[in-house]
Amino acid sequence: MTVAIYPGSFDPITNGHIDVLTRASKLFKRVIIAVLVNPSKIPFLPLNDRINLIKESIPDLENIEVDSFEGLTVEYAVRKDAQVLIRGLRAVSDFEHEMQMAQINKTLNTELETIFLVPRAEYSFLSSSLVREVALLGGDVSHIVPEPVNRYFTTYKKRGNIV
Ligand code: PNS
Repeated sequence: MTVAIYPGSFDPITNGHIDVLTRASKLFKRVIIAVLVNPSKIPFLPLNDRINLIKESIPDLENIEVDSFEGLTVEYAVRKDAQVLIRGLRAVSDFEHEMQMAQINKTLNTELETIFLVPRAEYSFLSSSLVREVALLGGDVSHIVPEPVNRYFTTYKKRGNIV
């Protein structure tokens, strides 16, 4: 049984992440979407909000789980008995950084395979940071994020946090 982890910041989860996750769930028996807890980088959304938004947004599929982790991704993979690390590859601009991560991870654990999945072309420009920027400037993100994330930002606006 192949277990795959799909690690990331998910700050917040976008339609591009959902696309990659759904593809992974068709390929692997079990997929764990794993939110990185990074003490050296302050995320926009608190960890609990990121996790709750993922839980509310992902398709209701038996083989998908949501989790969080600290430390090295390769060590988390070993703890989860995962053989595969999933990353989305949107465009050439992702390639260098993703290749670096895949190569360093390979030096740390030769048994873990990084597999890149390509989301639909309409999500090739999409990133969590762009979503945050547009939403925080009061723009509409309803076409690029799951409904719970859109609601989160709309509520955030109503609370007067956005000019
Ligand atoms: O969504 P992101 O921010 O592009 O995800 C990056 C992530 C979480 C996959 C990467 O930063 C990571 O694996 N961090 C954990 C620490 C680690 O293992 N570093 C060495 C490999 S990059």
